[in-house]
Amino acid sequence: MKNEKVFSNGGFYQVVLTSNALLHTEAAKIGTNIVSKWLRTQHNSEPVRILDLACGGTPYTVLQIINGNDDYKFEYCGIDINPDQVAKASQTLECLKNVIRFEVLEGDIWNISALNLDRKFDLIFVGMNLHHGSSSQIKDLFIRMIPHFAASGLFLNHDLYKPEICSTVLTNKLSDSDWRKIFIDEQKAYLRQYNVDEKGLAENAVHIMKYDHPLSLTEAVALIANAGFTVKTHQMTAFNHLLGKYFAVIEAKLNS
Ligand SMILES: C[S@@+](CC[C@H](N)C(=O)[O-])C[C@H]1O[C@@H](n2cnc3c(N)ncnc32)[C@H](O)[C@@H]1O
Repeated sequence: MKNEKVFSNGGFYQVVLTSNALLHTEAAKIGTNIVSKWLRTQHNSEPVRILDLACGGTPYTVLQIINGNDDYKFEYCGIDINPDQVAKASQTLECLKNVIRFEVLEGDIWNISALNLDRKFDLIFVGMNLHHGSSSQIKDLFIRMIPHFAASGLFLNHDLYKPEICSTVLTNKLSDSDWRKIFIDEQKAYLRQYNVDEKGLAENAVHIMKYDHPLSLTEAVALIANAGFTVKTHQMTAFNHLLGKYFAVIEAKLNS
């Protein structure tokens, strides 16, 4: 997905992000609370080293987590496949006072072993990108992540998940992809409140049908647990957001 238009500078993802159509605000709140609690009760070494996989040009959630824990010092390493997002993220990170070292590297998260990362990380985050991978890519990613965790390491994810109702849909032999058309319509209705242009909405719909293949939360939890993690989920339906049922935060820790 290198240089995908939606994810490049001037692409529609920035509109989606600033209008909070993917619940980044809520994910950042949940993530900040999880990380604050973890830092106070389970993890006491500094700087806190973060690996942000598929960080994008605006690593919103991780930046909020870092800002929300400003009594701690952080080191940040972002990975993105798109060179213009690597350059943009590097500029964005410069202004964070409690980040004492940062780097953003060009690379493919489905092959993190090839990145030759020279450190272990306390927190590994993937935001809005697991849904681009196949089950086997996601499973391999979790297995490949294991050697990169420092002691008491934490994994966090914010992502799009297939509604559980789709298992019923599947057993009724309807197409697995049908629900995405409903999601696209609901997301369009949400985004139109922000007067976005119809061309951008159409491009985004094409992107979703081509690249977005989310698992259900239950499927994702089973897959991550099978890779050797204890998993906890945070659903977003309690928030007053039109698209809340499609998003969740996953928290996981390696089994000892
Ligand atoms: C939906 S954006 C997510 C950005 C950010 N993590 C967030 O939470 O908003 C997906 C990002 O992942 C990047 N990406 C897509 N496939 C990738 C891959 N295989 N390896 C690394 N980055 C990838 C894209 O270039 C894009 O910047």
